[in-house]
Amino acid sequence: MFELRCTVRNCPHLLQRDANGLVCAGGHHFDSAKAGYWSLLQPQDRKSKTPGDADAAVLARHRWLARGHAAGLIEQLLPWVDRGVGDRSHPLRTLDLGCGEGTFGPALFPADAAAYCGIDLSKRAIRLAARHWPDATWVLANADRFLPAADQSVLRVISLFGRRPVAEIHRVLAPGGICIIAVPGEEDLIELREQVQLSGHRRSRWEMVVDEMSAGGLECVERKQWRHSVELEQDAISDALAMTYRAVRHSQQTRLDHVDAMRVTLAADLILLRRSETDSNK
Ligand SMILES: C[S@@+](CC[C@H](N)C(=O)[O-])C[C@H]1O[C@@H](n2cnc3c(N)ncnc32)[C@H](O)[C@@H]1O
Ligand SMILES: [Zn+2]
Repeated sequence: MFELRCTVRNCPHLLQRDANGLVCAGGHHFDSAKAGYWSLLQPQDRKSKTPGDADAAVLARHRWLARGHAAGLIEQLLPWVDRGVGDRSHPLRTLDLGCGEGTFGPALFPADAAAYCGIDLSKRAIRLAARHWPDATWVLANADRFLPAADQSVLRVISLFGRRPVAEIHRVLAPGGICIIAVPGEEDLIELREQVQLSGHRRSRWEMVVDEMSAGGLECVERKQWRHSVELEQDAISDALAMTYRAVRHSQQTRLDHVDAMRVTLAADLILLRRSETDSNK
């Protein structure tokens, strides 16, 4: 199991298993995971203004990924997962921030279940993930507040359309450790957005992300783009909308009611970052 740290504010201890769940040396206790995940939520996380994706969005993404729409994206990411971290005695711990329903973990790290931990704030997502890959560690927690890992204990952090708490990512990454980020590309679902919102803004986010991460001590090593064109039928079109644009109003969605099929662009910007080998700051 992935080595977890207690999420009680300012508690520095690691969590150990006991008969009833997880316990730290400071006496904090977390119940055992009934559906294959650990809940490390703190009371303040339950009041979070962003309690994770709504169930409908999680289920839409689950159906979307089951149709194989991310296969090409996974292929693009695979060459990065062992970049520079393969020859270490250090365990190859991987933390996946905003892991969602759990398709990417086993696809990217099939042999590393014992050293992989997915974190998400949606109970629905983490349950699906735990069912899909039970040998990995799944945690219900707020990645924006505190990551449940010891300082410099992780060699890979991934955030695929997920959370990017840069100070925490820097804290948990070992020197030389990598961080892989994916954000939607400028043209992602542009045809759908044009239909639904009439305008279809093109907005590139990767530069902002690189700036944000560099300011936090992570250097951009490489960037690439993934782009794919796919013919979608009506059920896939409505899943694409539901998983991406919570704010699309019903009146806007009805503009697509008469569309049986549509050719749509899928695009993502992929960013590989590294914490310097010589950076020993906590
Ligand atoms: C767009 S989905 C991406 C999921 C997954 N990485 C994928 O690509 O399929 C974003 C995920 O972040 C989760 N999330 C949102 N806020 C979060 C937070 N503060 N802490 C942890 N997860 C969060 C959502 O519940 C959702 O599952
Ligand atoms: Zn504790």
